[in-house]
Amino acid sequence: MENYMKLELLAVGENEAFARSAVAVFALSLNPSLSELSDIKTAVSEAVTNCIVHAYGKEAGENRIFIECKTEKQGAVGVLHIKITDHGCGIEDIDVAMSPFYTTLAEEERSGMGFTIMQTFMDGFALKSEKGKGTEVRMRKSIGVSENETERERVNA
Ligand SMILES: Nc1ncnc2c1ncn2[C@@H]1O[C@H](COP(=O)(O)OP(=O)(O)O)[C@@H](O)[C@H]1O
Ligand SMILES: [Mg+2]
Repeated sequence: MENYMKLELLAVGENEAFARSAVAVFALSLNPSLSELSDIKTAVSEAVTNCIVHAYGKEAGENRIFIECKTEKQGAVGVLHIKITDHGCGIEDIDVAMSPFYTTLAEEERSGMGFTIMQTFMDGFALKSEKGKGTEVRMRKSIGVSENETERERVNA
């Protein structure tokens, strides 16, 4: 069984909570545990925040963020695929941007840990970007691989 959804959002701070919750609710059909759901929300939140503050910056409120999600289910195990795209400023050097603690917005107290968090909390991560064109973050989360059932029941209650 497969499922799919696509969201287009105005790049404003208010939509960050909506985006992470929408993706989490979409993932519910895969029967996730609380910790899996929390990992997904954290990663989506980091990616969406990056679109708002880095990709679009001062023009954020006039631009859009695109989120596509797909689920696959193979028996008890499910996989959630997430793609988050912006048409913002792009990233000059992806390897540098992905290194822990690297930030171009240090004066705004950004930690530089967004990409590290996305990689840590998800099972798959890929970044594509073109200067002046935009950025695409792809993430994958396996659901129900080694979770205890008690926790799983609470989410579905
Ligand atoms: N969507 C994006 N568009 C343009 N630049 C980005 C985007 N996402 C991240 N970056 C760049 O990569 C750097 C590292 O991002 P991240 O690890 O999330 O740390 P932080 O957001 O705290 O700066 C950012 O400071 C920024 O320069
Ligand atoms: Mg960030």
